[in-house]
Amino acid sequence: MRTYRKQVFAVLLAGVIALGAIGCTGTAAKPEENAAPIQATAQPTEAPQAEASTQAPTAEESKEEASNEPASQATDTPKAEEPEPHSDILVVYFSRTGEQYQVGVIEKGNTAIVAEMIAKKTGADLFEILPVDDHYPMTYNELTDVAKREQNDNARPAYAGEVPGLSQYSTIFIGAPVWWGDWPMICYTFFETNADALSGKTLIPFSTHAGSGLSGFDRKLSNALPNSTVQKGLAIAGADCQNNADRVQKSVGDWLNGLGF
Ligand SMILES: Cc1cc2nc3c(=O)[nH]c(=O)nc-3n(C[C@H](O)[C@H](O)[C@H](O)COP(=O)(O)O)c2cc1C
Repeated sequence: MRTYRKQVFAVLLAGVIALGAIGCTGTAAKPEENAAPIQATAQPTEAPQAEASTQAPTAEESKEEASNEPASQATDTPKAEEPEPHSDILVVYFSRTGEQYQVGVIEKGNTAIVAEMIAKKTGADLFEILPVDDHYPMTYNELTDVAKREQNDNARPAYAGEVPGLSQYSTIFIGAPVWWGDWPMICYTFFETNADALSGKTLIPFSTHAGSGLSGFDRKLSNALPNSTVQKGLAIAGADCQNNADRVQKSVGDWLNGLGF
């Protein structure tokens, strides 16, 4: 009987020790598990985008950096400051995929193609202006209706994210498709939202189009941002972006050389 009691006591004691050990491990593990998301949300504003190819220390890269953060660093004090831009040159652009004039349904927007060429040649960071709520239709005729309505309403459609460290760039290329002879209204949202950060910077506009050329992008940019210096812009035929990459490369290269890049 005494032996039986001893055995019961020994089993209970072992149970208590085992439970204690599990309890300790559980408490120790929790902060690390929770730390990663806390760290991630503490990152400076980043461009969402997802398909957001795009990028300054690009949105994608910022995201990648956040998600690749080793768990062991997660307990470090969260960084509040903005990440360092990779370059002092930035390319900001707006562009659409889907059905586009003269080129059918496209996987990469015409302006996106030019933006990437400029970034590659100048070593610039990229940021794509993406609508928060992507209300733009993928069929050309419907898209032109929506764009016309926005222009008539002088709308300022919201875009997602912001450029990390925008004020640290010295030169900013800004490109978009010509929409009804003007910048798409979402670009004006970008200009006005960032007027302070863009003040004193050199801005270089570029367009893609179906015949209207630069459509006064430079003058309109200057009017929207009178405290910035606007340089000579470039207009590229949208269809060439899809069908004649060599010609576009040459135009972009010559233009950049002329600007001293
Ligand atoms: C809503 C809308 C309006 C357009 N308005 C013009 C225009 O006024 N002049 C012009 O030359 N092209 C116009 N286009 C053609 C686009 O500028 C051209 O296809 C451009 O390369 C599209 O670029 P993306 O693929 O980067 O969006 C328009 C296209 C759309 C969708």
